[in-house]
Amino acid sequence: MPTLSCIGAGSLGKTICHLLSSQLEIQQIINRSPSSSQQAVDFIGAGTLGSFANLAHADIWLIATPDDDIEAAGEALWQSGVLRAGDTVFHCSGSLSASILNYEGAAIYTASIHPIHSFSNPSQSLKSFPGSHCAMEGQPEAMEVLSPLFTAIGALPFAIDADRKVLYHAATVTACNYLVSLLETSQQMLTAAGVDSAEANPLEPLIRQTMDNFFRTDARSALTGPIARGDHKTVTSHLIALETGTDTDLWQQVYRTLGNATVNIAAQRGQASTENLERISRLLKPEASDS
Ligand SMILES: NC(=O)c1ccc[n+]([C@@H]2O[C@H](COP(=O)([O-])OP(=O)(O)OC[C@H]3O[C@@H](n4cnc5c(N)ncnc54)[C@H](OP(=O)(O)O)[C@@H]3O)[C@@H](O)[C@H]2O)c1
Repeated sequence: MPTLSCIGAGSLGKTICHLLSSQLEIQQIINRSPSSSQQAVDFIGAGTLGSFANLAHADIWLIATPDDDIEAAGEALWQSGVLRAGDTVFHCSGSLSASILNYEGAAIYTASIHPIHSFSNPSQSLKSFPGSHCAMEGQPEAMEVLSPLFTAIGALPFAIDADRKVLYHAATVTACNYLVSLLETSQQMLTAAGVDSAEANPLEPLIRQTMDNFFRTDARSALTGPIARGDHKTVTSHLIALETGTDTDLWQQVYRTLGNATVNIAAQRGQASTENLERISRLLKPEASDS
C-alpha cells in the first residue's frame, strides 16, 4: 500500500486520514503539540506521532494546517529532505491554489482538493463525507494519484480553474456561511415579532420547502412572496417595521441588499409588472422613500 503522512491533523486532516486509511497506510501525524497529534492518531486508529525533527519518507503528504500555515509547512517539509521524486503533496484549502506548494524542478507533484463539506463534527463526517463534491486542481501527475483515492472514499471530484478558485470559494462561503447568518437574522426578527421558536422554528418547513424547490427547479421558479408579485406596499411596510428592533441597521441592510437580488430574479420570473419592480428597486435604495 502507498503511504500517507499528514501535517495538521485537525478537523479535516484526521477525518480525511481516517477515511483514506482504507486505501493507504497512514504513517506520521504531525501537529503542533504532541497531545493533539496523539488525539488525531487515536481518532484515525492508525499512524504514529511525528515531528519536523523526525520526519520519515511517505509517498503522499497531506498538509491540512490552517491556510496561513500551509506554505511554511510545505517549505519545512522540503527542507527536511524526506521528499523524493515522484511524491505527491496536497492541501485542502478552498481559496489557495496548489501552486503555493512549490517544488519546481524536483519532480514532486502538488495538488489541492477542497471538499465542499463541513468537518465541524469529525465523527459525523466519517459517515456523511461520501457524496461530497471536491474541487481539484494542480499538476496532472498529482491528480492522477489523488482522484481515484478520493473517489474510493465516496468523494465526487471535479476540476476547478486555479485562476478562479478564490471566486469559487467566495461562492461556497456565500452559500454555506452566509446562509447561517441569514437564518439567524430572520430568527432575530421572528423573536422581535413575539414568535416563540424555542421548541420548534415555525420557519423550518418553509425553509426546507424553498431549498427543495430551488434545487429541483431554479431561482425563477422557486421565488414567491411580495417582490415576485410586485407588492410594493408590502415592501414599504416591511421597511417601516424593520426600523424597530434590536439591530435595525443590519436588518435594513440585509433586507435591502437581498431585496435587490430578489428584484432581478422577479424580473426573470415575469409575474410582477416592470413598473412595480422599478418602484420596489427605488424603495430598496438606502434611505429611499417611494416617489
Ligand atoms: N474544517 C472544515 O470544515 C474545512 C472544510 C474544507 C477545507 N478545509 C481546509 O482544511 C484545512 C484545515 O482546516 P481545519 O478546519 O481542519 O483546521 P483545524 O481544525 O484548526 O486543524 C488544524 C491542525 O493543524 C495543526 N497545525 C497548525 N499549525 C501547524 C503547524 N505549523 N505545523 C503542524 N501542524 C499545525 C493544528 O495542530 P494543534 O492542534 O497542535 O494546534 C491542528 O491539528 C484548511 O486548509 C482549511 O481551509 C477545512
